[in-house]
Amino acid sequence: MLRSISRLTRNAQILKSSSLRNMSIWANVKMGPPDPILGVAEAYRNDPSEIKVNLSVGAFRDDNGKPFVLKSVRKAEKQIMDMAMDKEYIPISGLDSFNNASIRFAYGPESLPIKENRIAVAQSLSGTGALRVGAAFIERWLGKDTKIFVPKPTWGNHITVFRDAGLSVSDYKYLDSKTNTLDIAGVLEDFSKMPKGSVVLLHGCAHNPTGVDPSPEQWKQILEVCKQRELIPFFDLAYQGFASGNPEKDAYSLRLFTDAGMPVILAQSYAKNMGLYGERVGAISFVCKDEAEKQNVLSQMKILIRPLYSNPPSNGVRIASKILNDPELNSLWLDEVKYMADRIISMRTLLRSHLENDCGSKLDWSHITSQIGMFCFTGVSPDKVQRLRDEFHIYLTSNGRISIPGANSKNVKYIAESFHQVTK
Ligand code: LMR
Repeated sequence: MLRSISRLTRNAQILKSSSLRNMSIWANVKMGPPDPILGVAEAYRNDPSEIKVNLSVGAFRDDNGKPFVLKSVRKAEKQIMDMAMDKEYIPISGLDSFNNASIRFAYGPESLPIKENRIAVAQSLSGTGALRVGAAFIERWLGKDTKIFVPKPTWGNHITVFRDAGLSVSDYKYLDSKTNTLDIAGVLEDFSKMPKGSVVLLHGCAHNPTGVDPSPEQWKQILEVCKQRELIPFFDLAYQGFASGNPEKDAYSLRLFTDAGMPVILAQSYAKNMGLYGERVGAISFVCKDEAEKQNVLSQMKILIRPLYSNPPSNGVRIASKILNDPELNSLWLDEVKYMADRIISMRTLLRSHLENDCGSKLDWSHITSQIGMFCFTGVSPDKVQRLRDEFHIYLTSNGRISIPGANSKNVKYIAESFHQVTK
């Protein structure tokens, strides 16, 4: 009797678990589209062709098309390994030695807010994590209705990061698509109409995706209108050193706004300039009025970070900290940053010259060399981007952006010929 009751109970349990197994609670979940940038890189990886070229994701490659690990990074890594450090949690706001060096690198050691110790800074999961924590802070402390304006076009992830953090995202005119140059009149006009107290996203240098930056004079004009409208500048500085090869020069806009006393917010990334892509090293900082305000802001940053990911990872940041703080490693690194920037510049020159001189293209390709940084906004339409992929195995994002380091001395002619074929 007892045995048959327990068999019945077991059968009921089996029935219950198998019906649960057959019932789907995710039936309403639809297939999402691939990521506009990383999805293209995935499609490239799946292409078996031997002539394929990846001009999609912004990652530096050497002249053999191989990922490039900096010597300074390898050396720092070795020193860290030799120290046999522990794997304890690091603080919620990250490694102090890194945070302090990182803001000195961006704002400059002579910057007043640095000297007055009034920048609240936390280590972040690279640039994206910095943007996300910054946006969450804005949402919490300036309110859900705060508007953030981003340039049109901008890095696609900006919009989703800010929306997911609960901000209301609008755009401002940026690129004159007829000339592929900055529409400065449009920028100033749109800024002058923004509600007072809005946040405005500025690409500190090497604008992604266009490669079009304001000149120093134009930055001053943008600063003036930001002051008039009491706008809050949120700088994304993901390419410091990559635009010109000189990190000081590439920090011009950030330092201009900071010196003018603006309440700057800054997202930094060491993915590109240290090649620490997968290590996720970055920083988010807020320029505050005084040291007391800085302490308050920092305490609230920690309160935001703790439930998000508790505390940041330690490996990549130890490498970055060594490179930023050790004079010998630092000077080796700066040489390598210059090398990467120079290789990009030389590829721009070669690509343009092949298009104009060897292919005889009659189109204006001057923007390839006038734009700066990792990306070139070619002006090629989405249908031609598709042809490049289908007929030539060349992968770029559908907005016509190419990541220049995907070109090298072996494939640059092929890239030029392919572009000529689809645009003639
Ligand atoms: C890019 O724009 O290609 C890079 O910033 C990589 C990324 O995460 O999108």
